[in-house]
Amino acid sequence: MRAQFPDKLEFLFRPCRFKVARGGRGSGKSWGFARALLLLAARQPLRVLCTREIQNSIKDSVHRLLSDQISALGLQSLYEIQNDQIIGPNGSLFLFSGLHQQTVDSIKSFEGVDIVWVEEAQSVVKRSWDVLIPTIRRPNSEIWVTFNPDLDTDDTYQRFVVNPPEGRCISIEMNFSDNPWFPDELEQERQHCARTRPNDYPNIWLGKCRSVVDGAIYADEVRDLLESGRHGFVPYDPTLKVHAIFDLGWNDLTAIILAQRNGPEMRVIRYIEDNRRRLDQYSADLRDFRYNWGKVFLPHDGTSGNIVSGTLTPRTTMESLGWEVEILPRLDPEDGIRLAREMFPRTRIDKNQAGPLVERLRRYRRHINKVTREPGAPLHDENSHGADVWRYLAMAAPQMVNEEWGGALNYRKIGTA
Ligand SMILES: Nc1ncnc2c1ncn2[C@@H]1O[C@H](COP(=O)(O)OP(=O)(O)OP(=O)(O)O)[C@@H](O)[C@H]1O
Ligand SMILES: [Mg+2]
Repeated sequence: MRAQFPDKLEFLFRPCRFKVARGGRGSGKSWGFARALLLLAARQPLRVLCTREIQNSIKDSVHRLLSDQISALGLQSLYEIQNDQIIGPNGSLFLFSGLHQQTVDSIKSFEGVDIVWVEEAQSVVKRSWDVLIPTIRRPNSEIWVTFNPDLDTDDTYQRFVVNPPEGRCISIEMNFSDNPWFPDELEQERQHCARTRPNDYPNIWLGKCRSVVDGAIYADEVRDLLESGRHGFVPYDPTLKVHAIFDLGWNDLTAIILAQRNGPEMRVIRYIEDNRRRLDQYSADLRDFRYNWGKVFLPHDGTSGNIVSGTLTPRTTMESLGWEVEILPRLDPEDGIRLAREMFPRTRIDKNQAGPLVERLRRYRRHINKVTREPGAPLHDENSHGADVWRYLAMAAPQMVNEEWGGALNYRKIGTA
């Protein structure tokens, strides 16, 4: 059996617990990994699990790629391709499954696996890794990983590039220039991208992390925030009031921004996120900070009670705890997004105390229509609560006064409730 590989993939034939290749499009990752697995499983009995975060059907998997490579390598006599698995010689077997729906119990059926190949691993979330890795426990079992990096804060990137398991992990970067068979069609695409989308080029073709997710609503603003150093050390200034802006949730996240305004400049000194806690608990936490407190801003639903609370509303609750409360008017989210965009250039966000807010903002994105690819409404997900309270901050800005000068200069007023 003979097959050719990019030089960088030579490590696939040496034993190692974690073998990781990341990089841009067309670098030969998928082909190389598929070929290496087919050669190894032809030589010795191997159980291989091919997995990814979401696999709704076998079409989403590398089943097709492996089948094509079996033909390309002339291994048809050794492998039997079935609908949902591939059977090799001497008991070798390729299985295909998604990680997302697995539980600690269901994944136990894969304990006999020798090699797991996690493809498109940039989408694999922390929970999935935590379920998968301890399941792969046969002596000398290996975890193979291929991915195109997305954000540097993604779990996969942190796990295998920033803090790789010491001494047990080979983690390489490979790009189109490492692939001697880089196809002409892709070369045309690459050059076109370099010309027309220079911002996206380093991520797509050089495997560099991006500063925001695809379709991010605040893409340019967040990039500018990070590059201009406005995401750094933003200390509490006791001569300015600290205002607390809330997005209310119970099962969903409650998100709270603590911010100070200095003339036109907005300083986010702290960000809090939690769920299933009552307002009096948040209030107690805030009091512990012993800040020079200003107002509490609640969204328009802050005036409605519910079955549990009866007539008690978030507003009356916070007022009874001694807070001066302002209710923000209802505003179309798109108008709120516009206000928030205007606020970005004059905002600084503390890296240590409010870092997760920036994570939310860089991941806040629109729903993309599957057919038309048109962007639609902002996606409601774990990132949207932080992004909502960010809009509320922009709305609250004119009313975030400090005793001394109390002006609302430079902020567009959007009416009061
Ligand atoms: N070992 C190889 N022998 C011959 N051709 C290869 C080999 N590896 C890659 N190629 C060629 O390069 C192309 C890109 O390779 P591959 O799909 O493996 O890249 P990739 O890094 O997985 O890209 P993507 O990030 O887009 O998934 C293949 O379609 C094939 O034409
Ligand atoms: Mg690939």
